[in-house]
Amino acid sequence: MNSWQRDFGWEIPGGRRVGGSLRVPGDKSISHRAAILASLAAGRSHLHGFLTGEDTVNTARAMAALGARITGLSTPEMEIEGVGAAGLTTPRHDLDMGNAGTGIRLLTGVVAGQQVACSLTGDASLCSRPMGRILKPLRAMGARIEAEGAGDRAPLVVRPAGLTGIDYPSPIASAQVKSCVLLAGLGAHGRTAVHEPAPSRDHTERILPAFGVGVERLADGAAITGGQRLTPCDLTIPGDLSSAAFFLVAAALSAGSTLTVVGVGVNPTRTGILDCLRAMGARVERVAERQEGGEPVADLVVTGGDLTGIEIGGTLMVRAIDEFPILAVAACFAAGDTTFRDAAELRMKESDRIRAMAAALRAIGGEVEELPDGMIVHGQPLLPGGQIDSHGDHRVAMALAIAACRCTGPLAIRDTACVDTSFPGFLRLLAEATG
Ligand code: S3P
Repeated sequence: MNSWQRDFGWEIPGGRRVGGSLRVPGDKSISHRAAILASLAAGRSHLHGFLTGEDTVNTARAMAALGARITGLSTPEMEIEGVGAAGLTTPRHDLDMGNAGTGIRLLTGVVAGQQVACSLTGDASLCSRPMGRILKPLRAMGARIEAEGAGDRAPLVVRPAGLTGIDYPSPIASAQVKSCVLLAGLGAHGRTAVHEPAPSRDHTERILPAFGVGVERLADGAAITGGQRLTPCDLTIPGDLSSAAFFLVAAALSAGSTLTVVGVGVNPTRTGILDCLRAMGARVERVAERQEGGEPVADLVVTGGDLTGIEIGGTLMVRAIDEFPILAVAACFAAGDTTFRDAAELRMKESDRIRAMAAALRAIGGEVEELPDGMIVHGQPLLPGGQIDSHGDHRVAMALAIAACRCTGPLAIRDTACVDTSFPGFLRLLAEATG
């Protein structure tokens, strides 16, 4: 494994196959929400399987700075003594959310209606991402927030305010926007509803009832009534399907290999990756299906095959949005063309993921055409390998590490420290899974 870790990043040997059984760290989206809600509950909650990546630990740290008492911070077993729904206090320092769009957007919604003053910021990537999408509805609710970055970008300075519920037709299908407004609605007078043009992930709607909060599910969104109390709970966070996805694709690319990933969240708003892999020709089975903390969970068994290109757009693209980098890798080795459409949002993620993936795949011999809202990938059986840059984007780095499975030579990846934001231990797990 050490030979894979070089000064500049990683050097992954080409032509490896994965097999066996493994477990991935806790779900990032759910970990953010669990840390926030446990901190707002009146009493002590226990979180099992919390993701110890930098993004979610930053959220937990921010909640501690706002008054929650956290034991086991940066470990998967966390105990949080919450302050109650309106009990947050002004932090002594700026809240540094690092690289996490989910962290800053959800937390801004939480503090907007509290009697606290604070400033939320993050790294260069986070400070370049659009925040107008949350500022517009929050200001309509009465929030007093200033964006110090040009064009409504972080740092965000929040002042104490009293909020009133709104009925918000969101122009984009974004779980971060929906969750930000619902969390602000929890501290607002009256009812707050969010309507979306297409369904985004619904972890917020599922986890709020675990803390005793009633949520109305609407045909096109969700609504919440302000002033509800949160009760503490004991919550198990499932493995992250977006982390499992790298290994599922590695198995799908290894014809005849079978890999099991144990205890993965299979929320239907997130399982686009499974539908895509099946449509491309891999065998994907769910075993031991169960429910944990309001979320469906299963063991996933993937058997590799000869993959064929497909078209991915519309709601399927929304349900696979974070899996674009690894699906683009699968497409590189699928017979024929794979087309990704309706994915312009990818240009506003941790990097411009369409541009970053197009550059990375071309650098290892892939044939791709960039589109304004996606990409066309022309598949080939094998690629030579080469050197790529992650552009500081964790999912780009991990996706390319998996591409090495079908490269004839080694693949060197620069700038890999970012992987710790979502998947600490990824390289070790990959080395184990490839024997
Ligand atoms: C997330 C929502 C998604 C996703 C992100 C995590 C969340 O973004 O891409 O990685 O936890 O709410 P959108 O806000 O665009 O849906």
